[in-house]
Amino acid sequence: MIPDQAPKEDVFHCNEDLKKESHIPSFERYKELYINSIENPDEFWGAIAKDFFWKTKHTGRFLDYNFDVTKGEIFIKCMEGATTNICYNLLDRNVHEKKLGDKIAFFWEGNEPGDDLTVTYRELLQKVCQFANVLKSQGVKKGDRVSIYMPMVVELVVAMLACVRIGAVHSIVFAGFSAESLCERIIDSQCSLLITADGFYRGDKLINLKLLADEALQKCRDKGFPVKKSIMLKHLSKEPEGVVGSQSPPAKRVCPDLEVPWNPDVDLCWHSLMKEASDQCEPEWCESEDPLFILYTSGSTGKPKGVLHTVSGYLLYAATTFKLVFDHQNDDVYWCTADIGWITGHSYITYGPLANGATSVLFEGLPTYPDVSRMWEIVDKYRVTKFYTAPTAIRLLMKYGSEPVQKYKRKSLKVLGTVGEPINPEAWQWYYSVVGDGRCPIVDTFWQTETGGHVMTPLPAATPMKPGSATFPFFGVVPAILNESGEELEGPSEGYLVFKQPWPGVMRTVYGNHERFETTYFKKFPGYYVTGDGCRRDKDGYYWITGRIDDMLNVSGHLLSTAEVESALVEHKAVAEAAVVSRPHPVKGESLYCFVTLTDGVAYNQALEAELRKQVREKIGAIATPDYIQNAPGLPKTRSGKIMRRVLRKIACDEKDLGDVSTLADSSVVEELFRNRCRTTA
Ligand code: WT7
Repeated sequence: MIPDQAPKEDVFHCNEDLKKESHIPSFERYKELYINSIENPDEFWGAIAKDFFWKTKHTGRFLDYNFDVTKGEIFIKCMEGATTNICYNLLDRNVHEKKLGDKIAFFWEGNEPGDDLTVTYRELLQKVCQFANVLKSQGVKKGDRVSIYMPMVVELVVAMLACVRIGAVHSIVFAGFSAESLCERIIDSQCSLLITADGFYRGDKLINLKLLADEALQKCRDKGFPVKKSIMLKHLSKEPEGVVGSQSPPAKRVCPDLEVPWNPDVDLCWHSLMKEASDQCEPEWCESEDPLFILYTSGSTGKPKGVLHTVSGYLLYAATTFKLVFDHQNDDVYWCTADIGWITGHSYITYGPLANGATSVLFEGLPTYPDVSRMWEIVDKYRVTKFYTAPTAIRLLMKYGSEPVQKYKRKSLKVLGTVGEPINPEAWQWYYSVVGDGRCPIVDTFWQTETGGHVMTPLPAATPMKPGSATFPFFGVVPAILNESGEELEGPSEGYLVFKQPWPGVMRTVYGNHERFETTYFKKFPGYYVTGDGCRRDKDGYYWITGRIDDMLNVSGHLLSTAEVESALVEHKAVAEAAVVSRPHPVKGESLYCFVTLTDGVAYNQALEAELRKQVREKIGAIATPDYIQNAPGLPKTRSGKIMRRVLRKIACDEKDLGDVSTLADSSVVEELFRNRCRTTA
């Protein structure tokens, strides 16, 4: 499986300086440790667990599991019997045991250049304890679910860790999601409390978050699920006089016209509550398999799945992947540009970095605001050493050439990373040679919301890189490639990417629906966790992710299901039927191409098209805005009435070779759709 020796040709090697300080300095060392992680997981993870604080030790096997649906219920248990608290490990342990109280946990960089602040580990611990007491004062208890809908501010980290401290389960909803999406997620996880903010700027666009949060809560009420309390952080509006320990926003951020409706029965002010709260709070000791958080990800049926992660396994996995994949060193300044509302932000802004006592940049803004040099300006400002972003951001910046990058020195950079989708070799080369000046290895990290952390990735000093390949498995991960009949393929091959055994950070269930967990990931090939991705292995044993093989698509690194976009479209009264397919996009990777059949008597026009776009945005969020909408009086169907999406994909991409269409009921439909296909986006 993993070759004894790394290939010497057609690969990129890391420089010698980096090897000297690296945790895993060679391919041989990687392979040795990898084998140990598979053969002796108790020893491998047990040694890692020693770095953390356990109130009580685990009993029995390190990992216990069943991955085979034919043998009974699927389960994964890690470190059963142990008790701990992750917040304690992230903050108290670093402040008290490791003496990192004065170390900066976050350099917060606001949307507006010049709007910034720093938070040390000690300050973060104090704020988290205070807010944990606030949650308790509102009746939040261990096991309760709390929904968080906030911009990228330090208080978002405070809110999540306060939940963790008292054993409550956070469910963070990305602040770019619509009120409808928030409502759906609140009800699905039965959250008793919402934490939100007044509003924020994304570039020069004002997002009135409180209005959206209120709309979501109203929808919840209408559906018979009243959320008792909503705590609002003032991020844009001025704070009440005399608030201790928090700063008023600088002039350029204050937005006096912001509309902040207030319902005294439900709404509570973050700052007033914090003023009253003590900064001493005993952590709640949790069992290893207690729920830690729920994070929703798109599901191919259209209804999002609440991915559940639990305490001990997730902590170890997020901490270890962060340390080894970014080769973390104490003087690093690490920056991950993701939003905490996605799993990347959970694992690699909050949990992984804080578990390692790292200093990170927490950035509220956009790569293109106020101009396309912003990222590199920030890299120089904080002397960022490890930088982690998405291929879509690289492709976007690449369009502007190297000049905006070269305006800044970027001398501090040591390791670059990507995540979210396959990176095309051209973007890889640009990232490597222009951003990294040919000096920094790139870790192309393949993983999923479900995997909790990186599962296929290079290690910067150990793995020779091939542009576009996620290379080899991380410790504890055993990949296989299966063909359609579920046989494991050996050597160079292509097929379904699956995993043969769990690693500590893998998800435990779909919240409230274990059956869906089993069906989605374990039914197709009994005995394996099925990723939903296609994969190729080359002659050197390198793995290349080829993209989703289900009805999911990846727009700018965000997974969407075609079904959820279709159902948002058909909810419009003018739409009788909708079929959505993916069309490649030079920056976003994939884009949404929607075919809509209108109800009888309705005419297709620009105004309707704009309404449909708005409809999808409001139902799901801006990331799901259709790129193309085509009026389709007829859709290609089989004689049994099934829409032939394969044919629609060809139409969307203008590929005339349709393959076998013998099951098509009426072929004139296809000609008509080709004639009227969309050429440009709105
Ligand atoms: C899907 C998971 C993991 C955090 C962000 C996305 C695709 C992710 C890579 C990569 C090729 C990748 C896969 C995967 N993906 N990283 N390095 N190379 N594809 O999390 O929303 O759960 O999406 O993103 O298709 O299944 P997610």
